[in-house]
Amino acid sequence: MASEDTIIASPIQAGVIGWPVNHSLSPRLHGFWLKEYGISGSYEALEVHPDNCAEFLATLSQRGFSGVNVTVPHKQAAAAAVDVLDDNARRLGAVNTIVAQSDGTLFGSNTDGFGFLENLRAEAPGWTPGGGSAVVLGAGGAARAVVAAVLDAGAPEVLLVNRTREKADTLANEIGGAINVIGWDKRSAVLDGAALLVNTTTLGMVGKPPLDIDLSPLPLNAVVNDIVYAPLMTPLLQAAKRHGNPTVDGIGMLLHQARPGFRAWFGVEPTVTDALRAYVLAAVRQ
Ligand code: ATR
Repeated sequence: MASEDTIIASPIQAGVIGWPVNHSLSPRLHGFWLKEYGISGSYEALEVHPDNCAEFLATLSQRGFSGVNVTVPHKQAAAAAVDVLDDNARRLGAVNTIVAQSDGTLFGSNTDGFGFLENLRAEAPGWTPGGGSAVVLGAGGAARAVVAAVLDAGAPEVLLVNRTREKADTLANEIGGAINVIGWDKRSAVLDGAALLVNTTTLGMVGKPPLDIDLSPLPLNAVVNDIVYAPLMTPLLQAAKRHGNPTVDGIGMLLHQARPGFRAWFGVEPTVTDALRAYVLAAVRQ
C-alpha cells in the first residue's frame, strides 16, 4: 500500500473526438507509439455528438484527459471552444489537436499543414518550394491546411482548382496571399510550370470516381502528392508514375500530423517509421 506522501501518477489519457469516429485510424497510430515507447497511457476513439461537443471539451480535464485530437465534424466547433488558439488554427478556423494545460485551459492547434509538409519533405526531398507554382485541387478542409502550408513554405503562388468556384474564392479570401483561383475545366492546362500538384478532393478514393486529369503539361520534376490513402496507389499517382514524376502518397500526412499531439500529451517525440506505416495501412481497405 502506498504511504500518504507517495504520489501515484495515473496513466495519461488522450483520444480523438468525432461523429462518427469508428473509422478513425488515430487510436491505432497512437496505440502503436504507446507500445513502442512503453508508455502507460491510453488513446481512445470518443464518439461525441455535435450537440455535445462544446460541453465535452469544457469538461475535458475533469474527465481526466490530457488532450484530444479532433476530427470531422468538430474541427470548427473545437476552434470556438478552446481558450487559446495558435496562429495557424486561427487562420484556418479549425483545430485538430487540443492540449489541456496545467491550469485547465485548452490550447488548440492545427497540425494538418505540418503533417502535410513533413511528409512531403521526407518523401520528396527534391521538392523546392520556390521552384514553381503549387497546383492544389479541391477547396475543402484539407485544402485549406495544404494551401496555407505550401505558401508558408515559400511557394511563389498557389493555383487553386475546384469544381465549385465560390468555395475556392472563399478559401482564397480567408487564407490570403498569392492564391489564384482557376476553373475546374483548366485543371490540366494549369499544370504547365508547376513544381507541385496536390489532390485534396475525394476523387480517386475507394467508391468515388477517379480524378480525370491529363498530366502531359506537367514538368517531369514536379512532385505529385495525393492525400487520398484508400487506395494508397490512386489512379492519379499511377498516372504520375507512368508520366515519370516523383510521387508522394497520402498516408504519411496522417502519420506526421499526429506527432505534435503525442509529444505534448505523452512527453515523447515520436518517429514515423516504415513499421508504423505498415501497421496503420493494414487497417485501410485498399
Ligand atoms: P475535406 O474537408 O476532407 O477536404 P470536403 O470538404 O468534402 O473534404 O471536400 C471535398 C472536395 O472534393 C471539394 O473540393 C469537392 O469539390 P466541391 O467544392 O465542388 O464540392 C471535391 N469533389 C468531390 N467530388 C467531386 C467531383 N465529382 N468532381 C470534382 N470535385 C469533387
